[in-house]
Amino acid sequence: MNMSSSETAVRRTFDTVAGSYDQNGVEYFRPIAARLVELAALGPGEYVLDVGCGRGAALFAAADAVGPAGQVVGIDVSAAMIAKTAADLRRRHATGVVVAVMDGAAPGFGPGYFDAVIGSNSVHMVPGLASAYGRYRTLLAPGGRLAVCAPASVLEPEPRVFGLRSIAAAAARFSVSARVYPQEEAFGGPEKATEDLRRAGFSDIAVHVEDVVLRADSPDQLVRWTWTHGMRMMWDTMPTEHHETVAREIEAEAAEFMTDSGVIEIPSPVRYFVAR
Ligand SMILES: C[S@@+](CC[C@H](N)C(=O)[O-])C[C@H]1O[C@@H](n2cnc3c(N)ncnc32)[C@H](O)[C@@H]1O
Repeated sequence: MNMSSSETAVRRTFDTVAGSYDQNGVEYFRPIAARLVELAALGPGEYVLDVGCGRGAALFAAADAVGPAGQVVGIDVSAAMIAKTAADLRRRHATGVVVAVMDGAAPGFGPGYFDAVIGSNSVHMVPGLASAYGRYRTLLAPGGRLAVCAPASVLEPEPRVFGLRSIAAAAARFSVSARVYPQEEAFGGPEKATEDLRRAGFSDIAVHVEDVVLRADSPDQLVRWTWTHGMRMMWDTMPTEHHETVAREIEAEAAEFMTDSGVIEIPSPVRYFVAR
């Protein structure tokens, strides 16, 4: 595989975090994936491709939706993610679900094989996404759907990532790849994404922006969570002498979102695209 340095950095980051990704109790990726699967309107017996499946947030929700007569294929560029998810599948004795290491830029399946292609918090990292949309379309059977989502950027009055100014500021300062947590809009913004999808031959393009509530038991748990996904890139880029200060800044801002019951609940907008 011929990869650019930013693609290699993305793959390495997810290889590094695969063991802890979405496992530390913070709620974020799973509710987003559940909503994506709902918007994709998957039905029993359907065949689904999950691009950038990671540890299976959308994969398992899709498998539940299509039932035993359906099939879900998860692909991911990170071999470590696929190894962990394959082990989870074996543990759950899951049937009708398979995973494979594969680049979402050019999935190798026959035309018309799937009823839906989905990608939760993943396809904005796929290089040449506008061209990939065209490939996803050819993978779809007539009436097939594409459903993808990513964090919607908040730039006003100040940039926020995961609803927090402190994370946006640190990510900008320590240059996290724009592919992972875009300071600019994921997918190039809703107008460009809609145009890219139209050019790729999709119709009935719907855009939904909805808040997901990022839920953590404590500010400290939230900081530890930022080490377990794409934000790991920020910590790895940051000179270690800044780690303590940045962690305290994130904790202090997160504490502002503490509810009466003592948990942290941060509204964080997500943009979903659904097309036919
Ligand atoms: C933020 S995680 C999302 C994982 C999962 N979909 C979820 O909702 O929890 C992004 C995933 O996309 C994968 N990824 C990044 N670039 C990719 C590419 N070009 N092709 C396939 N997967 C990719 C990463 O390895 C990672 O597992």
